[in-house]
Parts: sequence; structure tokens; C-alpha cells
Amino acid sequence: MKTVSNPAVGTAHGKIILMGEHSVVYGEPAIAVPFPSVSVVATLTEKSGSITIESDYFTGELDQAPHSLDNLKAAVQVTCEALGQFASGFHMHIQSTIPPERGMGSSAAVAAAVIRSLYAHFHRDLDREQLLRLVNVSETIAHGNPSGLDAWMTSGEIPVYFQKEKPFEPLPLQMNAYLVVADTGQKGQTKDTVRDVSRLEQLYSEEARRIIRRLGALAEQAKVAIQEKNPVQLGECMKKAHSQLMTLTVSNAHLDRLVAAALYAGALGAKLTGGGRGGCMIALAADRMAAEKIAAALEHAGAEQTWIHSLGGD
Ligand code: MEV
Repeated sequence: MKTVSNPAVGTAHGKIILMGEHSVVYGEPAIAVPFPSVSVVATLTEKSGSITIESDYFTGELDQAPHSLDNLKAAVQVTCEALGQFASGFHMHIQSTIPPERGMGSSAAVAAAVIRSLYAHFHRDLDREQLLRLVNVSETIAHGNPSGLDAWMTSGEIPVYFQKEKPFEPLPLQMNAYLVVADTGQKGQTKDTVRDVSRLEQLYSEEARRIIRRLGALAEQAKVAIQEKNPVQLGECMKKAHSQLMTLTVSNAHLDRLVAAALYAGALGAKLTGGGRGGCMIALAADRMAAEKIAAALEHAGAEQTWIHSLGGD
């Protein structure tokens, strides 16, 4: 009797930081939302011999894959160990619409999809705790020291409110509004911006700390706006957060242009999301028609790609 699924499929999706990037590094709260408009599908089929993969970045033997796929290698390795199976005898097709290096959690999503496909292949139950553990182990092998946020967001459905060294708090978000997400087409510069904020914090500790605390307070107000289902208030928090992030030097001209274009087109609020100086920005729209108008304005202003995501009110 055959005890494996062939082919077996695993999926995961992107994430967006709604509020609190950078200040979260200093212990302030932040809010992140799952972003199912972009996703990864890993399809595993049995074959003899060593593992082969097919993806946009590389096709061939997994052993020969470039460093940019270390997360995938790590996910296969730790999952096969956890399952007590040899790491051989299958082909893995990875299809992803999550742009890499935009702060959307691409790496953790690939790991989560691969892990799910392996568990499905071997007909083994995978609870959330084990999935999060395996994604975090893969991310640690591939990149160092993950906060666990990407693992959580790319494999779950509920937004979270979080603070360093505290458990993630589910923050259900059901609001009559739309999030418009725009990709600048530039890679995010998280490493550089995190380093520069830390320099500012050392050089101008009082002023920098004030901005960081302000960002934390705005994330707190955004949480209340979400709980009260108040998109106007949430939009205000986003606008204010973007100007604080500009003062922290983590925005750039392209992001500022997109934020301005969204506001001119009627957005309730707009800000960069993630590490900054590239990557993505987000805007809040009151309804679908407004969202479409904002998305068109963003594309006109140079966004490489836009997505419209309902916040669940319809
Ligand atoms: C990057 O997506 C988010 C930052 O707050 C960095 C971090 O939290 O590690 C900028």
C-alpha cells in the first residue's frame, strides 16, 4: 500500500507590517497583517535519486542551489530530519508571487510551503507549533536570528500586535476598508536602515528616542482604531508614522513620491512598510473604487506592481 501523497502541495503567503517597523527593534509595539495576495506554492513529486528543484531563481539539484536558496535547503533538511526520512527521492516545484527582499516574508513563506508539502507527502500531521518551530529553525540556519514574526504571519490568517520578547497577540482586523500595497521595484535596505537608526539613537539619543516612542504610541493608537473599526483614525496613524519614519531617515524619494501620490488620490493614510529605502509602501482606501483609483495613481507615480487587499469588511 502506498503511504505517500504524490504529488503533495504546501502553501504559504506574504505579510505586511502595518505599523511599528524600526521602533519595534527598541521594544515598542508593532502590528503585522497576513497578505494572501502574494503566495508560495510548493509541489512535491516523487522521483528516484537526489532532490531536484525548479524555481524562478534556479532549476537543478538542490545541492547545487545558490546561497539565495539556503532557506529552502534548510527547510528540506530540518523537515526530513523531523520526519525521520532520507532527504532524497523527490522533485520540488516552487512557484512564488512574493517579491523577494521587500519585507513581505518571502523566505519564511518558502520554508513554510516546503515544510507543509513534505508533511503532506508523508501523510503526517503538522500542528502549528511544529510548523513554526521548523520554519524558525530553517530561518536561523539560512539568515541568523529571526524574530519569529515572518514564520507566524506567512503561515497564519490573523493579524498580530507584537512587542519584543512578548508573545504575539492576535489582533482580529475586520474593517470596511482596503489596503493598497505598492512595490517600489527597489530591494528593501533593512540592514542599512536598522544600522542607521541605531547610529541616530546613539548620536541623538533624546530626539531619536522621542521619535521611536511616538512611533510606538501611533502603533498603539492604530490598534485601538482597528478594534473600533475606524479606518479614518487608522489612516491618520499611518500618515503620522510615515513622517516620523522620514525623520528617522529610513524613507527615500521614491517611497515619499508614492506616499504623496496615494494621499493626493484620496487615501485615508499612507506609509512605507518594512525596512524602508526601497521595498513596499501601503495606503488605506475607504472602498474598492477609491482603492482602484489609488492603485492607478501609484502605478502612474512609478510603482512596479500594486495589490488591493480587502480588510474584511465586505
Ligand atoms: C523590517 O521588516 C522590520 C524592521 O523593524 C526590522 C526588524 O524588526 O527586525 C525594520
